[in-house]
Amino acid sequence: MKEAFHGSDVEKIAERYGIPAEEIVSFAANVSPMGLSDKYLKHIAEKTGCVERYPERDYKRLRKAVSGYCHAEYEDIIVGSGSSEIISAVIKHRKSPNVLIVAPAYAEYERNVRIAGGRARYYRLREERGFEFDTDVLTAALSDDLDMLMICNPVNPTGTALSAERLEQVLIRCEELDIICVVDETYVDFADPVYDASPLAGEHSCLFVIRSMSKFFCAPGLRLGYGITSDKDLLMEIEENKDPWSVSSLSAEAAVLMLSDTEYIERVRGYMTEERIRVCKRLDRLKSLGISYVEPKANFVLVHLPDGKMTADGFFEAAIRKKMMIRNCWDYKGLEKGYIRFCFMKKEDDDRLLSLMEEMYS
Ligand SMILES: Cc1ncc(COP(=O)(O)O)c(C=O)c1O
Repeated sequence: MKEAFHGSDVEKIAERYGIPAEEIVSFAANVSPMGLSDKYLKHIAEKTGCVERYPERDYKRLRKAVSGYCHAEYEDIIVGSGSSEIISAVIKHRKSPNVLIVAPAYAEYERNVRIAGGRARYYRLREERGFEFDTDVLTAALSDDLDMLMICNPVNPTGTALSAERLEQVLIRCEELDIICVVDETYVDFADPVYDASPLAGEHSCLFVIRSMSKFFCAPGLRLGYGITSDKDLLMEIEENKDPWSVSSLSAEAAVLMLSDTEYIERVRGYMTEERIRVCKRLDRLKSLGISYVEPKANFVLVHLPDGKMTADGFFEAAIRKKMMIRNCWDYKGLEKGYIRFCFMKKEDDDRLLSLMEEMYS
């Protein structure tokens, strides 16, 4: 059985290949390479004593900071230990849920449906359509036996996205059929604001937006995510089933600062947008080698390697031997052959990866 390495498996890879984990550049975890701001480091050093107290039970201060960041009502916000906790809580709040998942998709959706004793069906983004959404087909796939629709937007792993305007067509149908539309926006902070659905939460109570501090804020260890919905009954139900204090006081303190650090937010957004354009230009030059890619909307890109030369497995091996960990996508439904994904890191690291690709496929 082939081993599947996920984005966060740096330690597992380090052990397997005998490379010190701190020397590996992770192109697989989709975390921004920008590090933490000096302002954050100074602030958190001063606040470490807050662990002597329990966090606020209802996280009012943190939820107000989230509200200021994403312009949603603070009463509509729930916080949790990473977007993972929110994904799990929303899927599991129904017994045996019937869920339609937009695929290829983040594996945790299916895992949580399985744990909840539910049933997952799939709406597949088609390779021949460049993995773009067809909202007419998606809307037609909705039926009244469904409890939930799970969309990752921008999609991990394809990098394609659905604008909020086009999502509204889907929301209207979900409302008619009483389906909760869960939109996992873990990568939306990197994308153009037209893809951000959070402003629709107030108008469409069937919408449940999920966000994370792990990727854009370069803080996966903080374990902080949040959900936004104007369905107060659903929020209360989820809150009642959640464990109390699942976000530590230190994480809450850190997030309040990070979410208001506009200078840092603009710097990360500026760099990531510039780097996305630059990497795509370099990838364009590799088209003559049979290498193609899906136009990325967030901070990572799905690349198809040519048949006949080195396989995706082979390229994964070649990259890890140079201490670069990419994501081999063979275990995603519909991406079994030839697909890899990597996120944009520092310019010099991206150049090293692209040069290796050029060398291997020339
Ligand atoms: C699409 C998607 N959603 C959620 C998560 C989980 O993120 P968090 O660290 O916020 O739990 C990930 C992590 O890779 C992801 O790719």
